[in-house]
Amino acid sequence: MIFYNTLIFWYLQNSRNLPWRKTKNPYFIWLSEIMLQQTRVAQGLAYYLKFTEAFPTVFDLANADESTVLKMWQGLGYYSRARNLHFSAKLIANELNGEFPSTYKEIIKLKGIGDYTASAIASICFNEATAVVDGNVYRVLSRYYGIKTPINTSAGIKEFKTLAQSLIDKTQPGTFNQAIMDFGAIQCKPQNPLCNTCPFSNSCVALEKQLIKELPVKEKKIKVRKRYFNFLVIKTNKQTTILSERKGKGIWQGLYQFPLIETKNVINKEELISSQEFINLFPEETTISLFNQKEIVHKLSHQHLYTQFWIVETKNLSEATIKWSEIEKYPVPILIANFLEKHLPKK
Ligand code: ADE
Repeated sequence: MIFYNTLIFWYLQNSRNLPWRKTKNPYFIWLSEIMLQQTRVAQGLAYYLKFTEAFPTVFDLANADESTVLKMWQGLGYYSRARNLHFSAKLIANELNGEFPSTYKEIIKLKGIGDYTASAIASICFNEATAVVDGNVYRVLSRYYGIKTPINTSAGIKEFKTLAQSLIDKTQPGTFNQAIMDFGAIQCKPQNPLCNTCPFSNSCVALEKQLIKELPVKEKKIKVRKRYFNFLVIKTNKQTTILSERKGKGIWQGLYQFPLIETKNVINKEELISSQEFINLFPEETTISLFNQKEIVHKLSHQHLYTQFWIVETKNLSEATIKWSEIEKYPVPILIANFLEKHLPKK
């Protein structure tokens, strides 16, 4: 079975009758494709008709005030799309004599145009075999081939683009691209896809393995917590310091660290000195310098640690029981090991 034959046969019987399907004018296709991003066809349609009536050519759009364009965009959301559209219309009108670039490579240079839109315009208007990959395409291909690579990772983005590119009908790439998007929107829907009437049901991996609901896979993006660490690297006149074991659960359990003051933001020396924790630790006079002028950002899976190492020189401290000469015997987090590497005199 040739994938595109089955797909295009389906499309000939099921394609949606949409106004931008009646033209190959890149200006109109561009408008429609930008409007349909993050927007359902039913909603985008009214805006498409309104825009093409008010701005029938790229010169009309270029000559409009930005506020007029934004007003007409009102309700569609993601207003940067409208601003970029207007910016690129001015560039096409004023610098390209109104001529829309005609290759993927040139089209993608326009502001607000990424891989999806450049592929759509190049294929629909200029017959260039560049495969589109939108949410519909991810769904159709991940299900049909049973691909579990998360679609929102760079590996997934690459894999699905390569696959779509290998499947495209080179003689009618624009039709292929619109067919696969319509197929995803109408037949291979996110919920309750119409598998009973699907022309691919004999060879669909997800259907055979009951993976329809699982596919496509999306990786949950975990929210990264920012934390601000101030390590106090104490140097007494007896060549000793404080290093203590991290207790309890959490990062670095059981490892040793310098006294730590965690703050809500990056702080300066004055803020450090006036903090209660610092005063408690050092009632006596100290000399303080910041080891790293720019915070060191240590990235863990769920947290980014913005770290400052403060060198605190002081007279003898009874709590400072660790000899500097023995500091390398203690297990420390890599963040502290890296600091020591830079800080300690080379042997
Ligand atoms: N969604 C966005 N653009 C589309 C197109 N040209 N065909 C089908 N669905 C789409």
